[in-house]
Amino acid sequence: MNDEFEFDAVHMARALELAAQGQGLVEPNPMVGCTIVRDGETVGEGFHRRYGGPHAEIEALQVAGKRAAGATAYVTLEPCCHHGKTPPCSEALIAAGLRRVVVAQRDPFPQVDGGGIQALEAAGIDVDVGLQEELARELNAPYLKLVGRGRPWVIAKWAMTLDGKLATHAGDSRWISCEASRAAVHRLRGRVDAIVVGRGTAEADDPLLTVRPPGARTPARIVLDSRGSLAAESQLVRTAGDAPVIVAVADSAPGDARDKLAAAGCEVLACAGASHAERLEALLDELGRRRMTNVLVEGGSTLLGALFDAGAIDEVHAFIAPKLAGGQGAPSPVGGQGVDLMAQAVSLIRPVIELSGDDVYIHGRIARQQAR
Ligand SMILES: NC(=O)c1ccc[n+]([C@@H]2O[C@H](COP(=O)([O-])OP(=O)(O)OC[C@H]3O[C@@H](n4cnc5c(N)ncnc54)[C@H](OP(=O)(O)O)[C@@H]3O)[C@@H](O)[C@H]2O)c1
Ligand SMILES: [Zn+2]
Repeated sequence: MNDEFEFDAVHMARALELAAQGQGLVEPNPMVGCTIVRDGETVGEGFHRRYGGPHAEIEALQVAGKRAAGATAYVTLEPCCHHGKTPPCSEALIAAGLRRVVVAQRDPFPQVDGGGIQALEAAGIDVDVGLQEELARELNAPYLKLVGRGRPWVIAKWAMTLDGKLATHAGDSRWISCEASRAAVHRLRGRVDAIVVGRGTAEADDPLLTVRPPGARTPARIVLDSRGSLAAESQLVRTAGDAPVIVAVADSAPGDARDKLAAAGCEVLACAGASHAERLEALLDELGRRRMTNVLVEGGSTLLGALFDAGAIDEVHAFIAPKLAGGQGAPSPVGGQGVDLMAQAVSLIRPVIELSGDDVYIHGRIARQQAR
């Protein structure tokens, strides 16, 4: 029994490893991996490689061919049972004559949600659900948040000096981190659906917010700018034709400012709400409706503080450079109200701490029960 469990665990771990290779390419779909094993031998492997492409099970079945008959399939997510962009995997597994299917996690997607498991069982296949479920959930946390809460996974990124400054007291921040760290940021950008900054950062830094070199995705560039004051000469507006620029404004934003931005090729998105906080919630809901799975917030201090106070940050990527900027008035990465007691400080779960050139790079997810 124990041996069998270990055997299953090894193959599910491999399926999870395969699934992870789809990161940045499959969203808003989940990452899924599959291995097919017969008589102790792996006869097929596959993963979902890109949105709209074949599902993991179909890839693995193709490799296995006739050897799938009587075999066990290990799938990191419940096989689908609906006709989406591709025909249902549950039907394909049944047709191939699988004997047993081990599933790490049920798929909460409304058109599946247990239906795939039911279809397999109705066809007489043994189905085991829940093996390494925690790891599977961790892998697809952004997908699960989008399906469950209708909102994207929010990744906060910043670079700071060793004395905790995001910029000098005069507002200059170029550059804090080293070249290797900036390259890491571009890799992160290349797998998300949007890069978000506040109006203050757009004004102070005049950033381009593109991915260089290009990655798997071309993220939309979003500026939170209540009055639609983003300058027509800014790099963002001037390059609106190269990658989408969305200016999130308040309902009260002046019409002529909106018209100017729209004429320059920006999307002007009016967010309902009387306060910054309400409009932020409305924006996250709208990005969820657009099925954005991951958004990367790159500052500044005011916007990151607002997100922190709202309990809306899911993951942090911080680059700490071995330099000091000093200055009472120089901003720190996360402004806002903050917590009262250090005991209320929010921790990262199992943070990864690595060196990135001369910088220390700390990244990890925020413990959910601790998210505020
Ligand atoms: N080191 C780094 O990694 C890094 C990264 C980014 C920025 N920076 C530095 O940070 C400084 C800019 O930071 P900042 O704090 O002044 O500006 P910010 O956070 O970029 O922008 C703040 C502004 O965004 C607008 N906004 C719209 N909706 C908001 C919401 N829900 N919550 C909060 N703000 C909202 C507000 O202006 P409206 O009322 O007009 O909408 C607000 O004043 C610059 O010096 C920049 O160089 C450093
Ligand atoms: Zn499928």
